[in-house]
Amino acid sequence: MAAGGRPGHRRAVKPVRGGGLSTPAWRLMMNRRLTLFLIAACVLPTIAGATGPQDADARAATTEKQMTVAERIGLLHGIMALPSRTKGPPLPAGVKPTAGYIPGVPRLGVPDLLETDASLGVVNPSQVRPGDVATALPSGLALASSFDAAAAQQAGALIGQEARAKGFNVLLGGGVDLTRDPRNGRNFEYLGEDPLLAGTMAGAAVAGTQSEGVVSTVKHFAVNDQETLRKTVDARIDEAALRESDLLAFEIAIERGRPGAVMCAYNKVQGDYACGNDYLLNRVLKGDWGYKGWVMSDWGAVHDVADLMKGLDQQSGEQLDSQVWFDAPLKAELAAGRIPAERVADAVHRILRSLYAVGADKPRGEGPIDYDAHARTVRGIAAEGLVLLKNDGALPLTDQPGKILVVGGHADAGVLSGGGSSQVTPYGGPPLFVTISGPGATASYARALYMASSPLKSLQSALPKAQIEFENGYDIAAAAARAARADRVIVFATQWQAEGWDHASMSLPEGQDALIAALAKANSNVTVVLETGNPVAMPWLHDVKAVLQAWYPGEEGGAVIADVLTGAVNPSGHLPMSFPADETQLPRPSIPGLGLPATATAAIDYTEGSDVGYRWYAAHHLQPLFPFGFGLSYTSFELSSPQLTVSKGRHPTVAATFKVRNTGARAGAAVPQLYLVSAAGKPCLRLVGFQRLELPPQAASSVTVTIDPRLLASWNVAAHRWQISPGTYQFALGHSASELGPTMEARLGEQVLPP
Ligand code: BGC
Repeated sequence: MAAGGRPGHRRAVKPVRGGGLSTPAWRLMMNRRLTLFLIAACVLPTIAGATGPQDADARAATTEKQMTVAERIGLLHGIMALPSRTKGPPLPAGVKPTAGYIPGVPRLGVPDLLETDASLGVVNPSQVRPGDVATALPSGLALASSFDAAAAQQAGALIGQEARAKGFNVLLGGGVDLTRDPRNGRNFEYLGEDPLLAGTMAGAAVAGTQSEGVVSTVKHFAVNDQETLRKTVDARIDEAALRESDLLAFEIAIERGRPGAVMCAYNKVQGDYACGNDYLLNRVLKGDWGYKGWVMSDWGAVHDVADLMKGLDQQSGEQLDSQVWFDAPLKAELAAGRIPAERVADAVHRILRSLYAVGADKPRGEGPIDYDAHARTVRGIAAEGLVLLKNDGALPLTDQPGKILVVGGHADAGVLSGGGSSQVTPYGGPPLFVTISGPGATASYARALYMASSPLKSLQSALPKAQIEFENGYDIAAAAARAARADRVIVFATQWQAEGWDHASMSLPEGQDALIAALAKANSNVTVVLETGNPVAMPWLHDVKAVLQAWYPGEEGGAVIADVLTGAVNPSGHLPMSFPADETQLPRPSIPGLGLPATATAAIDYTEGSDVGYRWYAAHHLQPLFPFGFGLSYTSFELSSPQLTVSKGRHPTVAATFKVRNTGARAGAAVPQLYLVSAAGKPCLRLVGFQRLELPPQAASSVTVTIDPRLLASWNVAAHRWQISPGTYQFALGHSASELGPTMEARLGEQVLPP
């Protein structure tokens, strides 16, 4: 980060931990007891009221034994606690409207579960709680662009603290579905296309939230990788590919974050609904991974009481299902002996255990929130997530006389955010709503919320010598005429995305491509700032001087964009997903099921397997517009002196050490990345480690990344094991998946790792 010391910017120059797991998978499995002990000893005592895992188990067992059947079953289902969604009786007195509510058992000290969305801040759904604002973080993709697990942890902790202060004890956060389609309407909530990056960031965010005594989920388990027909679509994918991609992201997130709950998804996976999927829930999650928390359904994702036997523990948002399966039907199954009492006890035990382990059973009452301090924290986090994609010398802006025309994107009012259940009502001023309109179950999400942090105003105050004017961009010819008379143009382009909708095309909507092209024709010094939920096509790329990917930058977005444009902050974000040139480069040029009614069914064959994102482009010799991991800085970095070490023993681990030098004149943060480029003689491309580090000008630092052996292995279906084939393994250091430099190699013997 360039400007440590400016108000609102986090941390002094300090390397942060990257994505190289320091413990091999097999040891993680064997050391589970030790790990639990260490967590009990080191982490949980910092959480007021939390108990160690063994104690949590013992307490859960004691409480569960004292419960009546009705009390047990009462914990296994709950409503969406919104007046608009409540058929039947109104919300119980004193329960604040929110995403989920499950009454506790007061006589045994079991608290109500008060569940709130989620990953980008505490949600006040459709402003149902008048006046209740929250700190609005940048989108998940912006956070992932930082490649900074410490920032994710800080973000998770901030949200956890606000959730707790507002009286919630379960956060529906931790979205970690991989980007298999850059048009997915919910990508902005997630963390990109790579399992190591996404899993690392989600795990850190979950750990942050839970350090505040609030249970966090990870979601939506699994392969909820498009919104089109999300409730019916069948994700079909080969088992080995699934383990190596989407499931690996969850596996890493769960190991690192130890979430109290996992939320299963709406869609089917291999023919079975995710919330009634024995393979996903019983065999992989609870079996192979030894997961001890509970599985809650997504809202309206339960199809049968038998889902309990498939591994689902709790039915959420029950009014949205065709029946309250986990109430009367469950009682009947239990009475008839078709569902064993032990299974119900197990589901209850899992819920209690997580509440105790995290300390979420002890509501501390509502408390004050220092929103101004949180705004400063969020400004620091957001600053790390902006990605400079192009700079032909136009940036940074300097404060000098001259006319700057700012065009479009409601930049006079604020910055865009994504819609859906993650939509935060921000602190910092009344938002601007732009009506979008839409049909169906998610129609209430169809309005774009602009957070009141105006890039125009921030630029005007950062550059007092310049004459900065605004043009809304509605009339292209008028905007071009004004652009011709300006010294430079900064155009803000927006792409609103929301839960429930995918964008069929990667083009900017509402004629914005034509607007940018016209501005670039009228003025040779155009900078484009993209506030988008996903990559967009850039037909005008060669005609503009600079492009800044600002994603949805959160409640401090205007200030952060101005900081980066003016150089107060040196950009350091790197893309967590590839930017394809256009849809024709994608594994599926059109979205399966697009245009069909929501009740229709469709199947997606994920024939690309585990070759998600950059791996797909590499395997098919395609050149994306911008590669995964890419991001420019106002300084430059050099990677050198690569060295591999392979530890001795039955399960050797591989570690890479290298040097990073800031070769420029400004302080900045580098994100060196380590890729596996050939495994046992076969070419491949896999991110196996990364580290973000801040360096003063000309300073150098040595970095060591320890490689998670699963990233060197493939999943052997027959043996039900990770397997490393014997041979030579070649690695390359790089600044992105397409800018690979120094290589190194090691010979590895055959290794078989537990699941
Ligand atoms: C979303 C979940 C969310 C839940 C509760 C569902 O529609 O898929 O991510 O947590 O609603 O709001």
